[in-house]
Amino acid sequence: MEKQEAVNKADTTVSQSEGNIHKTILSGITPSGRLHIGNYFGAMQQHIDLQDQGDAYFFIANYHAMTSRHDGVLMHRHTLDIALDYLALGLDYNTCTFFAQSDVPQVTELSWILGSLCPMGLMEKAVSYKDKISHGLSANVGLFTYPILQAADILIYHADIVPVGADQKQHIEITRDLAVKLNIAYNQNLLRLPEARILEAVATVPGIDGRKMSKSYQNTIGIFDEGKELKKRVMAIETDSTPLESPKDPEKCNVFALIKLFASASDRSYIATKYREGGFGYGHAKKALLEMIDERFSPARDRRKVLANNEDEVHRILALGGEKARDRAEQVMNPIRKATGLVRHF
Ligand code: ADP
Ligand code: TRP
Repeated sequence: MEKQEAVNKADTTVSQSEGNIHKTILSGITPSGRLHIGNYFGAMQQHIDLQDQGDAYFFIANYHAMTSRHDGVLMHRHTLDIALDYLALGLDYNTCTFFAQSDVPQVTELSWILGSLCPMGLMEKAVSYKDKISHGLSANVGLFTYPILQAADILIYHADIVPVGADQKQHIEITRDLAVKLNIAYNQNLLRLPEARILEAVATVPGIDGRKMSKSYQNTIGIFDEGKELKKRVMAIETDSTPLESPKDPEKCNVFALIKLFASASDRSYIATKYREGGFGYGHAKKALLEMIDERFSPARDRRKVLANNEDEVHRILALGGEKARDRAEQVMNPIRKATGLVRHF
């Protein structure tokens, strides 16, 4: 409660004494399907770790999901599923502001203003659009201008730090470019420049085929997979054909790349030694990985099952977060509406 009051009182034009103010942390995740361990290590784990390190905002980017899917029932299902995933994994809605993107209409308002300042070239060089088209998504205008909406998501709360995976780096750079353009165009410090926070060790989690784990490549291991399904995914991790008894280089193995994410430093070096000694097969490594996944995620799986029985509560949590996020967004939008002449400024 105290924290929220501090947010409400915060000066919403950019302060000159940046160093002294409480940092705002923000990130979003698109509800476009089952979350995988790449999402967890690249993004969600950081979100959960950072939630009490400043004024933290985490949201479900349903407008972004709309750029590639048009099924209302599924959209709602995916939104609730991601909320359940986050809450089960340890996001605490009393500590951070947790909400759905569409509950903050100011985001689309700012997105229009930023779009009106955005040169075509800035969107044309965005790699994620080209990447998505190459994976068969239809080329609509929403998908093309996706980074502008993402910039609005970030700038509308005066975010300082945006924890994401490496693939989002360019979007944060575009966000900074657009903030500068607005500040210069209206000759005021209206928007704060955010920084990406990318953890090198987990910047790109490999999938079961060794490429970046991504739902577009169908090479994922789901965070909430369990039992036979989980075992099937782990056993399907691609390895070379070095025989069981031969020494192996752990650094060249897809299974070890995943083990590294779960294991403690001492377990990691123990398993690396086993690889190098020989007599330790890929089947042994997969079994060890399976156990680590179960150990890490089984408490969250149990919590998720309990939460899933009370979806009304999840709706209530998101509505509460939406209200808090809207308050903050409204404070940031007010000076922008004045500066841009959308409302009178005297
Ligand atoms: P996907 O590639 O499966 O569609 P998203 O683009 O929805 O995943 O990513 C959501 C978040 O998870 C982003 O912050 C992204 O950087 C992170 N992320 C996704 N895949 C990985 C991965 N393989 N390694 C690290 N981070 C990832
Ligand atoms: N583009 C991000 C992704 O694909 C999701 C996202 C939308 C986001 N808006 C954001 C991430 C703002 C960080 C900040 O995962």
